[in-house]
Amino acid sequence: AAVGLIIPAAGMGERLGVGVPKALYTVGGQTLLGHALRSSVDSGVVSSVVIAAPVGLAGRVLDILQPPLPRTVNVQVVDGGRSRQESVRAALAVLPENLDVVLVHDAARCLTPAKMFVDIAHAVWSGHDAVVPGLPVVDTLKQVNGAGEVTGTPDRSVLRAVQTPQGFRRAVLERAHNAGAQNGSDATDDAGLVERMGSPVHVVPGDEEAFKVTRPLDLLLAEAVLARRRA
Ligand code: CTP
Ligand code: MG
Repeated sequence: AAVGLIIPAAGMGERLGVGVPKALYTVGGQTLLGHALRSSVDSGVVSSVVIAAPVGLAGRVLDILQPPLPRTVNVQVVDGGRSRQESVRAALAVLPENLDVVLVHDAARCLTPAKMFVDIAHAVWSGHDAVVPGLPVVDTLKQVNGAGEVTGTPDRSVLRAVQTPQGFRRAVLERAHNAGAQNGSDATDDAGLVERMGSPVHVVPGDEEAFKVTRPLDLLLAEAVLARRRA
């Protein structure tokens, strides 16, 4: 089954605070989006990509990539939306018909190893309709109320911090996004929309290098990871 990839890259990166949309910020000689595209293409499992670009920058996104992508992969760019969910939905709408497995991968998880794309695609091919990579949680998490009081401590052993790429049977992802748009929900990941339909989501081991570049400290980590790869 042919695999399509959606890259939500339309966010402003407010928490990073670098003055340009996060996906177009350069680290280690390449934009975050460029790194993300590179590892997904290197995986060899993706035949078609749709990027949700920051509003107004869709026309320039592909020119910014250094080095340019191989022509073997079909790459389209659409304008993203106001939320991540809207951006994914916009990209889904133009995904070529022949693709029946879809991976959704945040540009912000730019150093995700190529193997992760392979693992997720395989898990979908092997029969799981929705697959997410997840890692054990290292912090103790507290539930708090508006007054800043702790109302509970969930059992950490049953929690996972989930990453991208998340993989789906295309029909399942489309149904989930249509339902999400109808009932106005705003999930922070795509699997969350699948869960709300009552459909199963399977977890496979994540990878520490699939961390999300969110805050300034994450850029230091990204630079260190890239330096280690070059060594
Ligand atoms: N994203 C998107 N469209 C949006 C918002 C986010 O495509 N309207 C994408 C981001 O570009 C990113 C991914 O979703 O690749 C995860 O979002 P996040 O890490 O929150 O990125 P930003 O929204 O850019 O960051 P911030 O929330 O700090 O502004
Ligand atoms: Mg955001």
